[in-house]
Amino acid sequence: MEVIIRPDANTATELVARLISDAIRRKPDLVLGLATGRTMERLYARLAQMHIEEKLDFSKLSTFNLDEYVALPTENRNSYRYYMNYHLFDKVNIDKKNTFLPDGCADNLDHECEKYERKIESLGGIDLQLLGIGADGHIGFNEPLSALRSRTRVKALSPATIAQNSPLFDDPAMMPRRAITMGVGTILDAKKIIMLVTGKSKAKILSKAIEGPISSMISASALQLHPKCVVITDEDAAECLQEKEYYRWIFANEPEWKIYQNT
Ligand code: F6R
Repeated sequence: MEVIIRPDANTATELVARLISDAIRRKPDLVLGLATGRTMERLYARLAQMHIEEKLDFSKLSTFNLDEYVALPTENRNSYRYYMNYHLFDKVNIDKKNTFLPDGCADNLDHECEKYERKIESLGGIDLQLLGIGADGHIGFNEPLSALRSRTRVKALSPATIAQNSPLFDDPAMMPRRAITMGVGTILDAKKIIMLVTGKSKAKILSKAIEGPISSMISASALQLHPKCVVITDEDAAECLQEKEYYRWIFANEPEWKIYQNT
């Protein structure tokens, strides 16, 4: 795992946008894993801007989102399909037929989860998975005690996640209590992972996840097992990290980061 600290949320987001756009330019038919949430809004706005200003081409891309609420119709503005259309898909030249989210309204949810796994496999797996981290350390909706080898399945949402996301609903009581999520094992199968973490509210959980022991109590700690995972954070979220100086040295000196120095 590598950890890169940028001065603020804008520069951290800009770096992730650059890494994603470079990956798309290198492999136009990239299979990209996507996340939702507040952290990603700024990133998707930047990618949409790159589409307009730099002709970043999404036409051959396939995408798989990490998760979707159970029993929330896609027209509902809190559904993740709605979020993705609104923040990214409607603003770029992606073919929506190639954008996949689990169907949280499917009659048979277990079957839907199995189908999602097969679909990812059929496209050769996820090349690059984007992640955020939840207040309880979740990635996707892998709540505490999610098995480190878990696959796509229905998960009951934790009180911390309900507290984190229910204010986004007009009536917080209407937030679904269950979601379909890729498993920790599904996420770890991605060829490369980028986790973007910004803001003081994430500082404690981030340090536990990346510098603490690997534990199913904090799903993001499983990323320590991944051979190609980079965590991009701002100074606020990095506040509790012990090895900050080492991470700063890496960004300033390692050859792979040279071209991003001015980002
Ligand atoms: C949602 C997802 C979640 C979020 C996490 C952080 O698709 O994958 O794991 O990334 O809950 O959300 P924000 O950015 O709202 O703090």
